Amino acid sequence: MTSTRARISKAVIPAAGLGTRFLPATKATPKEMLPVVDKPAIQYVVEEAVAAGLSDVLMITGRNKRPLEDHFDRNYELEETLTRKGDDSRLARVRESSDLATMHYVRQGDPRGLGHAVLCAEPHVGDQPFAVLLGDDLIDPRDPLLSRMIAVQEQYGGSVVALMEVDPASIHLYGSAAIEATGEEGVVRVTDLVEKPEAAQAPSCYAVIGRYVLDSVVFETLKKTRPGRGGEIQLTDALRELAHRDDKGGLVHGVVFNGRRYDTGDRADYLRAIVRLACERDDLGPDFRAWLRSYVNEEMQE
Ligand code: UTP
Repeated sequence: MTSTRARISKAVIPAAGLGTRFLPATKATPKEMLPVVDKPAIQYVVEEAVAAGLSDVLMITGRNKRPLEDHFDRNYELEETLTRKGDDSRLARVRESSDLATMHYVRQGDPRGLGHAVLCAEPHVGDQPFAVLLGDDLIDPRDPLLSRMIAVQEQYGGSVVALMEVDPASIHLYGSAAIEATGEEGVVRVTDLVEKPEAAQAPSCYAVIGRYVLDSVVFETLKKTRPGRGGEIQLTDALRELAHRDDKGGLVHGVVFNGRRYDTGDRADYLRAIVRLACERDDLGPDFRAWLRSYVNEEMQE
């Protein structure tokens, strides 16, 4: 890393998708606002960015954006009521989300794909590398990933994606990466990317998951990227182009993630996230685990 290179400080969170897999819950509410135990999924994502040192957060919003903005804003009426009641612990919980980060918002007029959502961040990001965290992808707070990705970007330059080995039967749900070893444990060079391939066409079972650290050259590439799979402008297609280049801003590396990750836009994974995170909570965990144990025992007897 050269001493003149600025430290990555900005996080971009695309949250403008339609969330059709979760209808009708997402008819009038963004899927990122669905609660995981007692916090909306998006708050975990912003907390993760802040924990990795990124306190400047740009959220890409779409229709139904109000709840997202309101959640990270002050709610004076509620705060006043809790203050009057002397309910300090709930007051602290209400203030947590508004004190978390410096939040910015930009609207993606039409949901024309993840690549198009990322392009909406260009005026805010400028020419520095930046992180992208998908608003519906929850990385368990006990398994840090983003700080490692930032370190890898600072070491190698270019862009960095997060990769997770998945069952071949599931690779069609993700971008799939062709990889080469770098000699460094858990870090690979990405030589090709294919968005949502059939298992037989997938270059590997390494799936791209929702964390990226990108060189700002990606904006120029996205402007030239034609609609791909599903008629959407795909971030994977722009990264594929960068993976084939090794000039300035090119090169893509992958950090292999073995931790816990939940797609909160998927109903079954959303339920798994709630159960796992609730079990680990000091306040709810002991009672909830005891109930879960007896529930599972009853189910096994049937
Ligand atoms: P998904 O592929 O999960 O799409 O987007 P979706 O529309 O949100 O959800 P489903 O599949 O219809 O249920 C991946 C991420 O990219 C964002 C989404 O908000 C999500 O964080 N996204 C997607 C945008 O911000 N804009 C888009 O145009 C598309």
